[in-house]
Amino acid sequence: MTYQELLEAARSSMGPHCKACPVCNGKACGNQIPGPGAKGTGDVAIRNYEAWQKIRVNMNTIAENREPDTTFDFFGHTMRYPVFAGPVGAVNLHYGDKLDDIAYNDILVSACAENGIAAFTGDGTNPEVMKAATKAIRAQGGVGIPTVKPWDSNTIREKLRLVRESGAFAVAMDVDAAGLPFLQGLTPPAGSKTVAELAEIVRDAGKPFIVKGVMTVRGAVDAAKAGASAIIVSNHGGRVLDQTPSTAEVLEEIREAVGGNVLVLVDGGIRSGTDIFKALALGADGVLIARPFVTAVYGGGKGGVKLYIEKLGSELRDTMRMCGTASLKQISKENLFKPSSGYVAF
Ligand SMILES: Cc1cc2nc3c(=O)[nH]c(=O)nc-3n(C[C@H](O)[C@H](O)[C@H](O)COP(=O)(O)O)c2cc1C
Repeated sequence: MTYQELLEAARSSMGPHCKACPVCNGKACGNQIPGPGAKGTGDVAIRNYEAWQKIRVNMNTIAENREPDTTFDFFGHTMRYPVFAGPVGAVNLHYGDKLDDIAYNDILVSACAENGIAAFTGDGTNPEVMKAATKAIRAQGGVGIPTVKPWDSNTIREKLRLVRESGAFAVAMDVDAAGLPFLQGLTPPAGSKTVAELAEIVRDAGKPFIVKGVMTVRGAVDAAKAGASAIIVSNHGGRVLDQTPSTAEVLEEIREAVGGNVLVLVDGGIRSGTDIFKALALGADGVLIARPFVTAVYGGGKGGVKLYIEKLGSELRDTMRMCGTASLKQISKENLFKPSSGYVAF
């Protein structure tokens, strides 16, 4: 199967909202929710994608001729690439009935683990989703990261118990989910957390804790204060608040603010190995990619996920080779072209 065939297969197996576009750039789905779109005007998902395209890489081939090392240390686990499949919940609502969250996570978690990366799983109001996700992660020896929504404390406690039982090597919370239209007014209730509340959740988790949905220096510093081991610079793909900046625009200052104390991941519009390289050059340790993995699962099942991971890996290796960087640690801002207006200028 080629990537083109995967997209065609996805188009015929998805619901009406996602068009499985040649490049997933937020334009065709706009503000379509239910569906993979973004909130309000829908422009944040587009901005996320376009920001990476505005950043340009510096070619440098006067360098040692060797195979680039793409391996990434994630809390003591060696991953093949600095890439994770991002969490996506309620897939049947947004992408069509071919799969539900349980079947989707089963395919995604195992295919990612078998191909050297890891998947984040989503959460939902249906308790079976977290049960099945943690079961799928346990079946892969803990290679996977459940993402718990910021529910009330009793619900979080119960979900964290499932997470610990799964042996997952880390756990995440999408603190920005408080802004999701479909979560408001539902049971169990979800909402924002204070630093003190978050610190208690981190203690209860008992494993590396990742705060997803940080878009400001203040948010990053607060997450670190609460004891997070990692943050994900993310605006939830534009689904929780309209008119935010893109993640590429805020990444650099957030990395500088937290220094080396916290692992920094980023998502939003990252679509190729070259985009991954740019994110690392701006200071990220790794990236999440969400929507294109849904297309890969709907279009090609486990084989589709493998194909997409191989595609990203080969693009990343090619960019590293062409920019004279032999390992991920060597990727820096020197590898980016800086016009006087800054790396990302709108
Ligand atoms: C349909 C859909 C459902 C999502 N569900 C979740 C979720 O349950 N938990 C979460 O943390 N993020 C969720 N996200 C956000 C993604 O994980 C990710 O942050 C966002 O889509 C940006 O990455 P992308 O541009 O690569 O898709 C969802 C995104 C979409 C499009």
